[in-house]
Amino acid sequence: MNNIASASILSADFCNLGRDIARAEEAGCKYIHFDVMDGVFVPNISYGIPILKSVSKIVKGVLDVHLMIIDPIKYVKDFADNGADIITFHSESKSEIIETINAIHNCGKKAGLAIKPNTPVSEIEQYLDKIDMLLVMTVEPGFGGQGFIYETLDKISEAKKIIDSRGLSVPIQVDGGINEETAELVKKSGAEILVAGSYLFGNKDMKNAVEKLVK
Ligand code: DX5
Ligand code: ZN
Repeated sequence: MNNIASASILSADFCNLGRDIARAEEAGCKYIHFDVMDGVFVPNISYGIPILKSVSKIVKGVLDVHLMIIDPIKYVKDFADNGADIITFHSESKSEIIETINAIHNCGKKAGLAIKPNTPVSEIEQYLDKIDMLLVMTVEPGFGGQGFIYETLDKISEAKKIIDSRGLSVPIQVDGGINEETAELVKKSGAEILVAGSYLFGNKDMKNAVEKLVK
């Protein structure tokens, strides 16, 4: 019941973005998930800083920024200055990991570290005591509406075991293909923050959908 739903506005109606964000927050999403794609790190382009600036004026909860960009450290300050609360970047990007975590912390923001489905937990183990959230991607980053990759469940459990054995309190976030069925599986494996786009915005009763995710 301590789970958190983070609404990925990639699946919102961009002509009615303010309305859709309010809908998600009223439905119980404590986080709003903002996906930034640069067409280089992932084969798609989404939105960036000017949109974040506008969105930050209406988001009441936590603005959860997921950077799918090749050199995130270059933009940490811009995202921090324009409303991000959590800045998550990919371990597979070309920015140096410790330097990027420090840059985020120096801006007074929470640092999330993300891994793609094929990146083993062993690659990022050493950073677990330095980050505020671990994002285990449950689809290949780049597009909303994809099918959940079941092989990622073992990685969630593995990361959770390491976090607990070290006495750390780093929450695990999952992102991609989350719906009421896959939510059960990721929570059982140890995830606490569930990002969902198409499942939430495609649901007429969003409140009920959120309850199913976080229960
Ligand atoms: C994918 C993004 C996700 C995406 C999730 O690269 O990081 O946040 O919007 O969408 P769904 O929930 O539809 O899989
Ligand atoms: Zn995302």
